[in-house]
Amino acid sequence: MKPIKVGLLGIGTVGAGTFNVLKRNQEEITRRAGRSIEIAMVADLDVERARALTNGECEVVSDANLVVSHPDIDIVIELIGGYGIARDLVMKAIANGKHVVTANKALLALHGNEIFAAAQEKGVIVAFEAAVAGGIPIIKALREGLTANRIQWIAGIINGTTNFILSEMRDKGLDFDTVLKEAQRLGYAEADPTFDIEGVDAAHKATLMAAIAFGIPVQFAKAHVEGITKLEATDIRYAEQLGYRIKLLGITKRTPNGIELRVHPTLIPAKRLIANVEGAMNAVLVHGDAVGATLYYGKGAGAEPTASAVIADLVDIARLATADPGHRVPHLAFQPDAMADTPILPMSEITTSYYLRMHVADILGVLAAVTRILADSNISIDAMLQKEPAEGETQTDIVMLTHQTQEKLVDAAIARIEALPTVIGSVTRIRLEELD
Ligand code: HSE
Repeated sequence: MKPIKVGLLGIGTVGAGTFNVLKRNQEEITRRAGRSIEIAMVADLDVERARALTNGECEVVSDANLVVSHPDIDIVIELIGGYGIARDLVMKAIANGKHVVTANKALLALHGNEIFAAAQEKGVIVAFEAAVAGGIPIIKALREGLTANRIQWIAGIINGTTNFILSEMRDKGLDFDTVLKEAQRLGYAEADPTFDIEGVDAAHKATLMAAIAFGIPVQFAKAHVEGITKLEATDIRYAEQLGYRIKLLGITKRTPNGIELRVHPTLIPAKRLIANVEGAMNAVLVHGDAVGATLYYGKGAGAEPTASAVIADLVDIARLATADPGHRVPHLAFQPDAMADTPILPMSEITTSYYLRMHVADILGVLAAVTRILADSNISIDAMLQKEPAEGETQTDIVMLTHQTQEKLVDAAIARIEALPTVIGSVTRIRLEELD
């Protein structure tokens, strides 16, 4: 069979990794795909660098439009990122009948519905394994491996930068700003790390997983997005004393009233495998009704781990390109005419457990006043920690873990606790998941 021809848009870290792995493993990949996969064109603004990276083995252009409209190109790999030019090029590639492989979670989390609809109409594939958790084949697992299951929930460490920062904060007792600078120095965090540290990147990925898990449209705008910038080393220490670790989790859950879709720092029991995922590694825990809990672990970023996912998509397309589009795995796992309109719940409606830390005046009745408010609010306390005030101090911290309750009850209780004259400043609230 003749080779399938690929046009690569952007030869940065992942693009170069893809070029190199394809070349290095060409023989094995061809044996798997049934035909060879050839990068025939590369578009990059830095033409000289692109030429050096590709050793004159393919045509290099600066205008990506030449690639998406070239009649010889069968598959376009989009590695430009963002949702401006990348969106236009992906839509043009689809309109020109090209299959698309992308690692662009931001693009798909915001414009996925439009992109998948256009691809469906044109009979082409838009593959995005590399968009979620880099080298971990989580899209394949959710969409195909777990297809027998009614998926109940997913909880993932899906941002390596923040996991690295949290691991360092816990290991070395350092504060967030210090570790962020270190992460930037080591090249883990971008010069502008906003999307990572504010939870946006994780929310893009969680949005895509929710769509595939539950057969709903991608709805990034409805995700709750909370990063780690306000997390204090004190809370990491208290959590540890109570037997928990704090991780930035992307969580999506099926409930009787709708779907929860949220990213936030989360206490999880230290004894869970996923709690021990350290540094820049990723892990995704998926609970299906038939299979129970399954855990996927690996590198969520980097040149070759991400190339591994990009090339897996290329191989899938090479095998399926000539198949009847109706026989392919649907983009979002469910047939397009069988998508559900299950609502994404607002945060006030979610149910989880909570870690609450308050700084109080160490006087008679302060604890009773707090527990009375919680009892009045129907919030049950699971565990508690109260520190002896330091020598000569008259204030101390109280930390409480609650049983499962609704977020709106906790919001109201916190407002009442903060209004107590014996409570100083605001209450720190971190959500807690047992993941059992
Ligand atoms: N910036 C991401 C992370 C990698 O830190 O995990 C790409 O999704």
